[in-house]
Amino acid sequence: MQKSDRQLSAYYAARAGEYERVYDKPERQADLARLRDLIPGYFVDRRVLEIACGTGYWTQFIAPVARKITAIDINPETLAIARSKQLPENRVSFDVGDVQCLSPRYEAFTGAFAGFWWSHLRRGSRGAFLESLHRALSPGAIVVALDNLYVEGSSTPVSHTDADGNSYQCRELADGTKHTVLKNFPAEAELVADIETYATAVKYTALEYYWVLKYELTA
Ligand SMILES: C[S@@+](CC[C@H](N)C(=O)[O-])C[C@H]1O[C@@H](n2cnc3c(N)ncnc32)[C@H](O)[C@@H]1O
Repeated sequence: MQKSDRQLSAYYAARAGEYERVYDKPERQADLARLRDLIPGYFVDRRVLEIACGTGYWTQFIAPVARKITAIDINPETLAIARSKQLPENRVSFDVGDVQCLSPRYEAFTGAFAGFWWSHLRRGSRGAFLESLHRALSPGAIVVALDNLYVEGSSTPVSHTDADGNSYQCRELADGTKHTVLKNFPAEAELVADIETYATAVKYTALEYYWVLKYELTA
């Protein structure tokens, strides 16, 4: 694992208990209400692989409509909070795992959801991630990624950019510890260019604070 990936997972382990405060930002409530309406609708009756599910914030909204969800995160700390939501055990399972190299035991899913994960991928690792994700899906599967737009005054400022064009933020947790976190803000054209050889029915939606990319995997 690269240093920035190790820093990222360690940061989210430390942040687990305070993670969902990000969903309390007052200026983002109208967008979040729209997303809570929109996102579950993509997964009705699908077998869903959730990528980097964290504390299960989105899992709880997708679970009532999906046939099954397998939700993966690298950190037991975030998954403990997800499990405490007591989602139906016969349909929702949580696995510890690295989504940058998905185990071959994940296969034939008919949907994938990734909340706030695309932005944490190094620019150079998106291709390998997509190959690995798509191997876990059936042709025609729907893929939905949700992530942040950069909004001055609401987003944490970018502290620096590395030689490969990845941007970073310096984030502080409630205990005062400071963490360097890789956080990219890819534009629509970049997102679409990454997936267009695999994808049909591509739709990019920009709200005020978030973007949603939806596509279907070609055969
Ligand atoms: C921004 S949070 C998103 C959480 C959740 N998807 C949401 O939308 O609320 C990013 C998540 O990625 C997880 N993570 C970081 N590196 C990972 C990796 N290599 N494999 C799986 N999960 C990872 C972190 O533990 C964290 O829960």
